[in-house]
Amino acid sequence: MSDRKIYLEEKDIPRKWYNLAADFKNPPLPPLGPDGKPISPDMLAPVFPMNIIEQEVSTERWINIPEEIIEILYRWRPAPLRRAVYLEKYLKTPARIYYKDESVSPAGSHKPNTAVPQAWYNKQFGIKRLTTETGAGQWGSALSFACSIIGLDCKIYMVRISFDQKPMRQTMMRVWGGKCVASPSPDTNFGRKVLKETPNTPGSLGIAISEAIEDAVSDKSGKTRYSLGSVLNHVMLHQTIIGLEAKKQLESVKEKLPDVVIGCAGGGSNFAGLSFPFVCDKINGAKITIIPTEPTACPTMTKGPFAYDHGDTACMTPLLAMHTLGHGFVPQPIHAGGLRYHGMAPLVSHAIKEGLLEPRAYDQIKCYEAALLWARTEGAICAPETSHAIACAVEEAKKAKEEGKEKVILFNYSGHGLMDLVGYGKFLDGELMEYHLSKDEMDKSLEAIKDLPKP
Ligand SMILES: Cc1ncc(COP(=O)(O)O)c(C=O)c1O
Repeated sequence: MSDRKIYLEEKDIPRKWYNLAADFKNPPLPPLGPDGKPISPDMLAPVFPMNIIEQEVSTERWINIPEEIIEILYRWRPAPLRRAVYLEKYLKTPARIYYKDESVSPAGSHKPNTAVPQAWYNKQFGIKRLTTETGAGQWGSALSFACSIIGLDCKIYMVRISFDQKPMRQTMMRVWGGKCVASPSPDTNFGRKVLKETPNTPGSLGIAISEAIEDAVSDKSGKTRYSLGSVLNHVMLHQTIIGLEAKKQLESVKEKLPDVVIGCAGGGSNFAGLSFPFVCDKINGAKITIIPTEPTACPTMTKGPFAYDHGDTACMTPLLAMHTLGHGFVPQPIHAGGLRYHGMAPLVSHAIKEGLLEPRAYDQIKCYEAALLWARTEGAICAPETSHAIACAVEEAKKAKEEGKEKVILFNYSGHGLMDLVGYGKFLDGELMEYHLSKDEMDKSLEAIKDLPKP
């Protein structure tokens, strides 16, 4: 009999986050300011509270999770680790496929794992209101949820294309008291400028981030800060609770370290959350294949250069050393809204550079096929983002069959797709197409960074 659902007791929830920045052989490159010099932590103070900035720059290996945060996370954590026995059977694979089920959170994805600590640290610092961007709407709903539990106001700039595709996500945000507008919006100088130049733009995460930062820093009361759902070091840190729980759960069923670890990557946070504790094992000699997956429409890791670039379109953020397609990049309107980001977390990008990760790209047709196979074997309907991890898990399970190897495959089930059914409907009606970013489009987009400092 297989262990299909592997639970941890509440008392065994991890009490520290793991910081990969402590363990790299070569340190990551620092963020740079407008003068091309490394920024000092206080330069981030108009945007983030100091307690979060301290985490952002920390190189401590372990960081305590405050008890009050754990108390909120108990609403859904520890999250189950499950074994995909029905998919295994269908594929006739000797591989054992495990997945960490992050869809069980109130907002339906891994995003509340960082929304809660971010809202909590802001509240401790005396902040009253948070602004943010959202792609698919998962992050915006997670932050609305966290702000409502912790007692902060929340304004969300939602990428236009997702705003139109996923109206129910807006309702979710409103249920938790968040205010959601389509980005580009008439509410900020940058939004008005983009609307004037390109009135029909589908929007992008880069534009929405610029709007949310402008909103936060222009509040004269000094009581508004910005909150980012991915990319930055402190977000990766908060998400490591996923991988730390998964490790304990695999040990509890006497499973060895996984052979393959997989997560989809938009800004990198759910992938980092699951994989970084295993990247640590890899640095220490374990043989693990660790794969971040992305869309061929937005191939940041597999095609984009490692370069210094801004995290947003209006160039308000410091320069980050990362894989990028250029801060002005507006991806095709694929349904995995959370994977339509031009950059990649500096810690993930650095791990790629250090040879620790092996990124792969999948087109949306292959991903929806994997999502349907998942729904028709395991039963659940996954988020379009998550389908990029499932496509890879299926590929790896087939490979294990060809090789006749009993591999252990672990992937992150980053969210459910119950708010994303429009995309499924279009796929079933044959209305979706493959998108592959051409070299010409990429070169054009990368023009924007050619005069920036080089890593
Ligand atoms: C369900 C889901 N998975 C993955 C992602 C990608 O984000 P990240 O790379 O930060 O995990 C998102 C982003 O919105 C998401 O909603």
